[in-house]
Amino acid sequence: MQCRKCALRQGCTHVVFGEGARHAKIMCIGEGPGYYEDQLGRPFVGASGQLLDKILSVCGFSRLQQVFIGNIVKCRPPQNRDPLPEEREACLPYILKQIELIDPPIIILLGATALKGLIDPNASITRMRGTWLNWNNRLVMPTFHPSALLRNPALKRDAWEDFKKVIDKYRELVDPQHHSDYH
Ligand code: URA
Repeated sequence: MQCRKCALRQGCTHVVFGEGARHAKIMCIGEGPGYYEDQLGRPFVGASGQLLDKILSVCGFSRLQQVFIGNIVKCRPPQNRDPLPEEREACLPYILKQIELIDPPIIILLGATALKGLIDPNASITRMRGTWLNWNNRLVMPTFHPSALLRNPALKRDAWEDFKKVIDKYRELVDPQHHSDYH
């Protein structure tokens, strides 16, 4: 049966549920599927996904072994527009259940939609990125969406600072020996 919590399912090809490790210690949450994600039914497989893979791999994280990648909305909005607040809210129970089941101690929020959807509809990614938030006994790091980094490469320096904090936290909480090419 098709999801009818909002109208997006009617206009998309695949529901992009997310993928990664069943017990991932890190969950990355993006906005919603784009064209390629919708075609393939997999998250972050287009240009943003390639950049995300590169960032994760420099950090020493494999997207299938250490990370779970999901999105705030599971169905592609028409013409890749931002998901509406009511679409984010309608889809929220799915990501909340995924967080509960996978139980990651560290969550990375990629971009404004993820930050607004999970934490606060009035939050600003520019103001809140790079600082750890405590949310339901988990540590949450908001950072720029990879598509923002592709549009504006000057933001990459800040993004690397944010991922450096994630590497440090991973060493503190999960694996003191964790190797990363970044530092
Ligand atoms: N952008 C997102 O936010 N999520 C995806 O899955 C792909 C691109």
